[in-house]
Amino acid sequence: MKDFHLLIAEWYRQNKRELPWRSTKNAYFIWLSEIILQQTRIEQGKSYYEKFVRNYPNIQALANADEIDILNDWQGLGYYSRARNLHFSAKQVVNEFDGVFPSTYDDIIKLKGVGKYTAAAIASFAFNEQRAVVDGNVFRFLSRLFDVHTPIDSTQGQKEFQALADELILNSDPATHNQGIMEIGSLICSPQPKCSKCPMMEHCTAFIRGTIVALPVKSKKTKVRKRYFHFLVYSENNHLILEKRSTKDIWQNLYQFPLVELENDKADLPEVFKSQTFESETFKHILSHQHIFAVFHHFDSIPDDLNRDWIEVKGNEIQDYPLPRLIDRYLENTSTQW
Ligand code: ADE
Repeated sequence: MKDFHLLIAEWYRQNKRELPWRSTKNAYFIWLSEIILQQTRIEQGKSYYEKFVRNYPNIQALANADEIDILNDWQGLGYYSRARNLHFSAKQVVNEFDGVFPSTYDDIIKLKGVGKYTAAAIASFAFNEQRAVVDGNVFRFLSRLFDVHTPIDSTQGQKEFQALADELILNSDPATHNQGIMEIGSLICSPQPKCSKCPMMEHCTAFIRGTIVALPVKSKKTKVRKRYFHFLVYSENNHLILEKRSTKDIWQNLYQFPLVELENDKADLPEVFKSQTFESETFKHILSHQHIFAVFHHFDSIPDDLNRDWIEVKGNEIQDYPLPRLIDRYLENTSTQW
C-alpha cells in the first residue's frame, strides 16, 4: 500500500487533462469549479466556469451581484440551489471572513453547499492540506484496488472508504494525489474499466480475483418519485405567459409556463385544457430523485385574468428569465415560433 501514491502521481503527471481550474491555486476559483462540477460533466462545466470567472472575478463581485444575474448565468446547468448557495456563501465570506476565502478544511466546510468532498478538494488543491477526497470515482477505484464489497452508500462503507483514502494520501503531495486518484477513477477505472492501461493493474486485488465488474457495491437503488406536469403555453401576438415558482420544491424562484401537476398519468385533465389549440409536446426529464413527465399544451390566446404569479413577457425576451433546464429543452426543441 505504502507507495501507491507515487504510482498515482506519476501516472497523473503523464496523463492528466489540461483543465482551466487545474492551473490555479486561487481558492475562490477552485470553489467555483467544484460547485459547478458537482452535478455537471466536465465538458459542459468548462464554459460555465470560464463565464463565472469572467463575470465574477473575485468573491466580492459574486457577493455584490444580483441573484437574478447569477441564476441567469447558471441557466442550462440545472440544480440551481448550487447557484443560490454560491451567492449565499460569497456574502458569508465577505461578512464573516473579511472577504478572505477560508483556508482550512474546518472553515471551508462551514460554507453552505460544501460537504466533505468539496471541502477536501478545495483544502488540498488550494492550500495543500492533507485531506483525502472521496467522490464516485474514488469509491470505484478504491473498492477495486482493495476488493472491498461494503456498500458505498452505507455508513460503514463511507467510513471504510474514507479510511482507505486517508491512508493512501499519507506522504503524498495532496493536491496532485487527489487530482490523480479522481483522474484515474474517471479515465481508467471507469464503470467499463480500461485495466490494461492502469498503472495499478498488478496491485489491484479485484483485477487479480476477477471481481472488477461487481464493484463498487450499492445497497439500495435511489428512490425515484414520478411527477406529471402539464404546462399551459399561452401565446398571443408574440407574447407569452410565465409563472414564477414560489413553493418550496424544485426550481424555486425560477420561471416556467403556468403549471398544473397531476397525481398520476391516469388523472383527468382539468377543464381549462379543453381549449388547447394545437398539438401538445411531451418530454421526460430526469433529475436525481425525480422523473418528470411533462406535457406542453398550446393555446393561441392569453386569458384576460392573469393569476397573481403570472407575468406577460415578449417571446424573444423569455431567455432573460431564469428557466428550469426542462423549459429550456422544450424551447430548444419546439417548432413553435413567437
Ligand atoms: N470533478 C470534480 N472535481 C474535479 C476536478 N478538480 N477535476 C476533474 N474533475 C472533477
